[in-house]
Amino acid sequence: MPPTEKKPSLSNIGSLKALLPFLKPYKKQFFIAGFSLVLAACATLAVPFCFREIINLGFHSSSSSQINTTFIQLFLVASVVAFSTALRFYMVSWLGERVTSDIRKVVYGHVLQQSPEFFESTQSGEILSRLNTDTTLIQTLVGTSISMAVRNALLLSGGLVMMFITSVKLSILILVMLLLTVIPTMILGRRVRKLSKNSQDKIADASALAGEKLNAISTIQSFTNEASEAKLFNQYVETSFLTARIRTVARANLTFIAILLGFSSIILILWLGAYAVTRNELSSGELTQFILYTVIVAGAIAVVAEVLGDTQRAIGASERLLELLNLNSSIKSPNHPEHLTLGQKHGIQLEIQGLNFHYSSNPNPVLSDIHLKINPGERIAIVGPSGAGKTTLFQLLLRFYDPQSGSIKLNGIDIKQLELQELRKLIGIVPQDVVIFSTNAMENIRYGKEGASDEEVYHAAHLAAADEFITRLPDGYQTFLGDRGIRLSGGQKQRIVIARALLKNPPLLLLDEATSSLDAESENLVQQALEGAMKNRTTLVIAHRLSTVKQADRIIVLEHGRIIETGTHNSLIEQGGLYSHLAKLQFTDAPQLNKLRLKD
Ligand SMILES: Nc1ncnc2c1ncn2[C@@H]1O[C@H](COP(=O)(O)OP(=O)(O)OP(=O)(O)O)[C@@H](O)[C@H]1O
Ligand SMILES: [Mg+2]
Repeated sequence: MPPTEKKPSLSNIGSLKALLPFLKPYKKQFFIAGFSLVLAACATLAVPFCFREIINLGFHSSSSSQINTTFIQLFLVASVVAFSTALRFYMVSWLGERVTSDIRKVVYGHVLQQSPEFFESTQSGEILSRLNTDTTLIQTLVGTSISMAVRNALLLSGGLVMMFITSVKLSILILVMLLLTVIPTMILGRRVRKLSKNSQDKIADASALAGEKLNAISTIQSFTNEASEAKLFNQYVETSFLTARIRTVARANLTFIAILLGFSSIILILWLGAYAVTRNELSSGELTQFILYTVIVAGAIAVVAEVLGDTQRAIGASERLLELLNLNSSIKSPNHPEHLTLGQKHGIQLEIQGLNFHYSSNPNPVLSDIHLKINPGERIAIVGPSGAGKTTLFQLLLRFYDPQSGSIKLNGIDIKQLELQELRKLIGIVPQDVVIFSTNAMENIRYGKEGASDEEVYHAAHLAAADEFITRLPDGYQTFLGDRGIRLSGGQKQRIVIARALLKNPPLLLLDEATSSLDAESENLVQQALEGAMKNRTTLVIAHRLSTVKQADRIIVLEHGRIIETGTHNSLIEQGGLYSHLAKLQFTDAPQLNKLRLKD
């Protein structure tokens, strides 16, 4: 999915509607937030009014009880401002955090359901940035901007009314001044925001680069490319510094202009106001009140302008999130799924008819005209040159992709008619690229079956010949295996993954080069373990090493996506085709190793 390059604008405000379902559950909180907000705004608007009273009375009146009343009034108003502001802050921030958390959960849950096709065209960094940056923009909108906009709109209109009531002449004058201040600040402010986005992007580039390279640290060191990598990173960092500097200059200009113009306006009113007071057109209390309202109005205008920018960015963010949420995986459970009953016999029957498949990114066929019938409990070996389509066949069985034509049936039911989860629960897979999560050995194996007991995990590990090395790890099963299992050898990782698949105890077991990184002795161990594990199920094994597939009931030879030979080891050797050719290469290339292997 390509990122949306559309520039968000306020006219697209309709896209914020996408947020409504996330806001709906929190009506009560919105009400409290709204109430405290209006209360705080009213109380804030009352403050200058109280000041006027104090100044008018306090300096001229002799009655101390009047003085006391006005100060107590001011204190009460201030208390209301304090309380309602704090309540509004809490409620609104709570809403922001809550809504963002909900959105994050929904988006992540949705992404987890996408088919591999989606992940082929979308980088995981892109998804992470949707989850973090875009949701944070929405959090700013819900948790700050909306309330700031409403509060300042109230302050702005209330303040303006009060200003006009106090002095029409001064009000008109000050409005002109304010416009002269606000317009240049808004223009500069927009430039600053754009520049800060640029500099954030540059920092993100640098950290993406560092992230990728740190993951490949041993490659960098083995090719002694440390210096050139450091240089590349330095370039990125320097670019981000330059961008940051441009932004800072713009920001400094903004600060200069805003402060200078802001103060100039206030000085001007004070100046004119002072004359008005001397001419008795205005009391000194009224002048104070007027200035305070001016400050409130000016602040409100600045905030509203800033909020518009935030809203614009939140619109962009919610458009992107919406786009993600609207994605429908092409691989879905049927509306009326059928249920598969496992027969008395162990394992499951698999039938593939007239199957043709190519990846959507490449029109060349990967699998062509595949016909295959596998009986329950049968053990099939799939061999063939690299790129023949072996792994792809497994992907189709798991329904990660749908074939363009033909069908795959389990016990007579087309896998498209099965609930996706039900189908995948039937299949245990040991993939070609083993995946180890950064947790301990126990949890890595338990991943195969949620809620499996420790005993079940030990049993599976034992079957996969993983038990002997796990118990020798510093903390046994509780040993942390490192990021992507970095603390294990290739063969150890494979045995963990085999244990994981065995824990699931599936009727259909798919092994993709399950023993490729094992030394001869461990391979022997795993081979024996698999022998036992394969007994009560249908098994498909992909292997480049022919010694590991000799025991299969049937061997299928795949080349350029077509089944070119099927038979037992001996019959295929007799045929003298591709299999016998591969077998000859395999058995003569490494005589020492194979002597060991052929023992079993
Ligand atoms: N996600 C994908 N998108 C596009 N083409 C793909 C994809 N995955 C695999 N292919 C292509 O499909 C063909 C078959 O790949 P596959 O992984 O099934 O081969 P294989 O038989 O498992 O090979 P190996 O023995 O090397 O693992 C290859 O030409 C490969 O380039
Ligand atoms: Mg493969």
